[in-house]
Amino acid sequence: MHQKAATILRFFRQQSGFVSGEQLSKELGISRTAVWKHISALRGAGYRVEAVPSRGYRLLSSPDTLAAEEISVQLNSGLIGTRLVNLATTTSTNFEAFRLAEEGAGEGTVVTAEEQSKGKGRLGRIWSSPPGANLYCSVILRPRIKPFEAPQLTFLSAVATARAIEQTTGLKPEIKWPNDVLIDGKKVAGLLNEMSAETDGINDGINFVILGIGVNLNMTADQFPGDLRHPATSLLIEGGAKISRARFTAFLLNELDRLYAGFLDHGFVQVRREWQERCNANGREVVVSNHGRDDIRGLFAGIDGDGALLLRHPDGTVERILSGDVRV
Ligand code: BTN
Repeated sequence: MHQKAATILRFFRQQSGFVSGEQLSKELGISRTAVWKHISALRGAGYRVEAVPSRGYRLLSSPDTLAAEEISVQLNSGLIGTRLVNLATTTSTNFEAFRLAEEGAGEGTVVTAEEQSKGKGRLGRIWSSPPGANLYCSVILRPRIKPFEAPQLTFLSAVATARAIEQTTGLKPEIKWPNDVLIDGKKVAGLLNEMSAETDGINDGINFVILGIGVNLNMTADQFPGDLRHPATSLLIEGGAKISRARFTAFLLNELDRLYAGFLDHGFVQVRREWQERCNANGREVVVSNHGRDDIRGLFAGIDGDGALLLRHPDGTVERILSGDVRV
């Protein structure tokens, strides 16, 4: 979006009523014809702008896009979202964010896309990413932690996603180990973190981590692929109301920002506590099936610092589970 058009939008939002063409032309240092051209461009981009002679212009509605201008006005974060990159289409926002990070993009840079042609899921799966419906976003972080601590950030993004869902819809999401976000037992969001690190054993350290977050916002039942291994849903299906994608994104980034600041100051403790409280297995007996091996039963005893699932057996011993599918 042209810088001047973005400034006009800011004026509209600061002043809820009409803004005169004269005021805009003075504030922007451009002619009234140029103001009119930017208004036409905004209309072309889906903004509904009313024009009344002698009163000026008034913003009636904004399109449901992830444009940086739409998100940034709703952000109150310090670090996350300092740079917002929204792509009309991309293979995968994780891939784009990784590339930008390698080129030196700063911590807090966020890449979003209207659609992904090769959305990546966990374990090499595809993440269905139709245009204009959902949130596909990747956040660049550069924490000074050891590579083995990086999985803690996936748990952090799960908590942030659950908080954002609760705040924007009132629905009660649960987290399923390791990091699926569910509503009523159906998956509504998935997280895929990737990292670049030095692991030579001497100067082990992280170059950057990409937090990949996919949330099904306005997807309808017919848009889900037919071959899903587990039931999936969207906030629209569960809550019955369309979600503003920019608003949801801003809530999510604000929560990520708060949690990440706490993580840098105090470590994993707070995230771990909230993750456990929000886990669908909290306080329950669970069964873990693991690639054809015998099922393991036990009482959910939380997660450890590496993100391993802890199961307590009747004899009091605690077993660490590193992979598997958990049923409650
Ligand atoms: C999962 O399988 O549960 C993880 C899904 C992660 C999807 C998100 S969408 C934004 C980001 N870009 C990707 O290609 N994947 C992640």
